[in-house]
Amino acid sequence: MVTDLTADGWARLQEEAVEAMAHAYAPYSNYQVGAAAIVDDGRHVSGCNVENAAYGVALCAECGVISSLHRGGGGRLTHFVCVDGDGAIIMPCGRCRQLLYENGGPDMLLMTGAGVRRMDEVLPDAFGPDNLA
Ligand code: THU
Repeated sequence: MVTDLTADGWARLQEEAVEAMAHAYAPYSNYQVGAAAIVDDGRHVSGCNVENAAYGVALCAECGVISSLHRGGGGRLTHFVCVDGDGAIIMPCGRCRQLLYENGGPDMLLMTGAGVRRMDEVLPDAFGPDNLA
């Protein structure tokens, strides 16, 4: 069971997402995204979107988070925030919800525009690792 953060804890994680967003490479959409997460061993990881002249190759900010998670030793994501270029909270796209489900599981907590929600609320009836067991 993942314990909720304090309001300050969520605000700090949002600030980390904003800091990551400042590194976004988004010359095609001009839509910068930053994401930050906490790992179950206390590490913090973050990422930004990285676009490409071949538009479909764009990497979402969440891809950077997942890469950083594994590069830093793995573990499980427990808390996640994603922001746009104004620093406002946005929801992860469908593909990224699948990435987050794999690496955080059903009880990972996300800050959303409607408050804190569990991963299995934003990706109900998910296909996941258990299906392959
Ligand atoms: N984007 C993300 O980085 N994460 C999301 O969850 C939604 C979309 C990026 C991809 C693209 O660079 C830009 O936002 C516009 O779609």
